[in-house]
Amino acid sequence: MLRSTNQHGVHSPFVYDLVTRCFYDTTAYPQYKDLDLYRKQLHDSKEILFVTDHGSGSRIFRSDERPVAAIAKHAGIVRKRQRLLFRLVQYLQPHTVLELGTSLGLGTIALGLGNPTAEVHTVEGCPVTAKYTSEALKKARLHNARVHTAVFEDFFSKTPHTTFDLVYIDGSHSQEQTLQNFQQLLNRKKEGTLLIFDDIYLNPSMTEAWRAIVHRPEVSVSIDTFQWGLVFFRSGQKKEHFTIRL
Ligand SMILES: C[S@@+](CC[C@H](N)C(=O)[O-])C[C@H]1O[C@@H](n2cnc3c(N)ncnc32)[C@H](O)[C@@H]1O
Repeated sequence: MLRSTNQHGVHSPFVYDLVTRCFYDTTAYPQYKDLDLYRKQLHDSKEILFVTDHGSGSRIFRSDERPVAAIAKHAGIVRKRQRLLFRLVQYLQPHTVLELGTSLGLGTIALGLGNPTAEVHTVEGCPVTAKYTSEALKKARLHNARVHTAVFEDFFSKTPHTTFDLVYIDGSHSQEQTLQNFQQLLNRKKEGTLLIFDDIYLNPSMTEAWRAIVHRPEVSVSIDTFQWGLVFFRSGQKKEHFTIRL
């Protein structure tokens, strides 16, 4: 296994370009302003949502009244990684994108703006959150994203033939759910598909799930960025693992 702390130790041209031209790209893209504006609107919101929490696998364990501003702060993707998500989509130009776990759409808007011609599907199990976010994204004039109100398992059974070029997995961070999602996505991948797993070091069981995914024979390139685990399915590329601190 090749370990690398920066681009100098990376020998794969594909990964080298990804790291230097996308991960470390410091351009101030104009779309960053749209991302910040959307975030600000959520932080300034006085609205309260009656949410259904899907935090433990697909098991619904709690309903709660939560301010939009608090959800944005605690469950939303942070600004730095939201920008990286935007750059990954912009760099890789996927046609069909999937996000598992919409929440308030902070990830969705980055995915949608990254490639305005892509079709972005995002899945949220809480109906109140899904409705709120669908409307908020419309108001933000994001026209290429569709919010699906469903638990992940149901979304997969309702869309048996859809394949994806890029998937951001940010739902319940449990080992069981992570491995189930990976198994489902094996049937939905194409040549070059990228899967991004959030929070791979959240707890020992998430890390165990990540390690199991890295060792799967279907995975060619895997990149551990500490918060995110990225895996690519690229035929013709020898199996290699990279560790790159971001
Ligand atoms: C961490 S938040 C997502 C944050 C969002 N991706 C972002 O970038 O800001 C996780 C969301 O996934 C939803 N979720 C978790 N497990 C789910 C499941 N099995 N099916 C559907 N939705 C689920 C939760 O309701 C929650 O809104």
